[in-house]
Amino acid sequence: MKIFLDSADINEIKTHQSSGFVDGVTTNPSLIAKSGRNIIETIAEICTLIDGPVSAEVTATDFETMLTEGKKLAAIAPNVAVKVPLTEVGLQTCRALADTGTKVNVTLCFTAGQALLAAKAGASFISPFVGRLDDIGKNGMGLIENICAIYANFDFDTKVLVASVRSTQHVIDAALLGADVVTLPPKILSSLYKHPLTDSGLEAFIADWKQTGQTIL
Ligand code: G3P
Repeated sequence: MKIFLDSADINEIKTHQSSGFVDGVTTNPSLIAKSGRNIIETIAEICTLIDGPVSAEVTATDFETMLTEGKKLAAIAPNVAVKVPLTEVGLQTCRALADTGTKVNVTLCFTAGQALLAAKAGASFISPFVGRLDDIGKNGMGLIENICAIYANFDFDTKVLVASVRSTQHVIDAALLGADVVTLPPKILSSLYKHPLTDSGLEAFIADWKQTGQTIL
């Protein structure tokens, strides 16, 4: 399973990139707004740091403008994946961009039916938002299970990119279900390393080692 970072913060991306775990980056208009920076410059800079797919989202809601925005974002670098919303216009734009060889990430997916349409529209990625479904009392990971089963039934190439991840348990569940990608807020990626027994175990090893008076080097 690939791990993407869900961030438009260059410093966060640089920090986590050095771990070697970051296979790509996803951004959205809210993350760009939080960064306080220009979208084109930010995406261009992220693309110099990350070899894998970097998602950049359109903001128009009509077909012509969405397509023009998508083409402009795609022209930033060959690894840009244009993110479009799961609306009728978004899927028309997805088809038009996919037909010219542009990778498209269809976002704001909340049902398996929407995911089926995105695959048929030629999406490279579908982004179901598990956390936002859990927030309203629905089963976010149940949606991932259904989409993975449907895509496997018909051999769709569209990758299941689990988004709106709120916990390390979401990551484990996504991996168990065979999702292709999870996109993680930096704090969730950091917390994947952590367990209190790892910390207390290491403390005990260091204390015992000191008593031996030995050094390895
Ligand atoms: O990038 C889209 C997605 O990951 C948003 O997550 O936490 O705003 O629901 P969140």
